[in-house]
Amino acid sequence: MAEIGINIDRAARLLKAGRLVGIPTETVYGLAGNALDEEAVLRIFSTKDRPKFDPLIVHSWAAERFQAFTENWPAGAQTLAEAFWPGPLTLLLPKKPLLPDLVTAGNDRVACRIPNHPITLELLQAVDFPLAAPSANPFGYVSPTLPQHVAAQLGEKVPYILDGGSCEIGLESTIVGFEGEQPIIYRLGGLPAEAIAEATGQQPLLQTSGNQHPAAPGMLRSHYAPHKGLLLVQEQLLPQAPKGHKVALLAYNACRQDFPREDQYLLAPGGLVEEAARNLFKMLRLLDEMDYPEIWCELVPDEGLGRAVNERLRKAAGE
Ligand code: TXA
Ligand code: MG
Repeated sequence: MAEIGINIDRAARLLKAGRLVGIPTETVYGLAGNALDEEAVLRIFSTKDRPKFDPLIVHSWAAERFQAFTENWPAGAQTLAEAFWPGPLTLLLPKKPLLPDLVTAGNDRVACRIPNHPITLELLQAVDFPLAAPSANPFGYVSPTLPQHVAAQLGEKVPYILDGGSCEIGLESTIVGFEGEQPIIYRLGGLPAEAIAEATGQQPLLQTSGNQHPAAPGMLRSHYAPHKGLLLVQEQLLPQAPKGHKVALLAYNACRQDFPREDQYLLAPGGLVEEAARNLFKMLRLLDEMDYPEIWCELVPDEGLGRAVNERLRKAAGE
């Protein structure tokens, strides 16, 4: 069973030996391995049961470090890197051959990110190679936002998990690429689209889902899903509960009058979309483990991080 601790040297030693380590970031916990070591990368895919057509994000601690395996950055990418790294932004950048094709699933762009977490930044400096790290959950399940989430699902397969506490943002990074100088968002996430528009002076296009071969396969339907059924409910009208069963209602910031109080859970008691983002995956895991046969859920205000929250909820509901 994985140990949870704060020994950065130990984590670095394991990574240098080709092993995997659970790492904290400000978005979600990652399952990290040496991005330049094909065997370590293969181990990431097998540990997560992840199909090899779904590429991995490469993490480092300084933008210059990406230069060894990327080239020809669009000007807008440079702007976003300067504005938001370290932070919840992943940039798709043209790739050089040095990086194994396995990491990018044959894509000609590689996803790069500098996470904003002191422990992981220190680890990245200690190992001196980039870390490939998908979210540390079995493929298709909700991302982990606590070290205990990682241990519960992958603990048998991972020797060590660095404890960085509860993730500050709670949703995965926003993935941005460019066509010419047009910014395109491939996954809504911890950096709001509004911030990208402001920094680049351009309205980003959204290309997040729909087809069979999305640019970011994480946007395939039924991602981020708890095991039990999740149903989105309208503000006005609640559906009929299954006969003889109580269901859980995950409401935004206030309890409803037309539903048993004891079965209601609030995503953001303080009424901020950032709070909803921080709590979302924790609450979905919690309700998944409780006795309810299904989960009903309200959408949150569709602005800032609320758009990314709603996107996750729609995916979890299979819509
Ligand atoms: O916040 C995050 O981004 C977290 C933390 C650990 O950094 N990582 C994360 O990784 O969410 P993952 O693997 O769960 O999601 C990465 C997404 C996937 O949907 C993948 O398809 C997409 O990024 N992606 C990775 N590399 C790509 C590439 N070269 N081209 C297009 N999409 C890519
Ligand atoms: Mg993931």
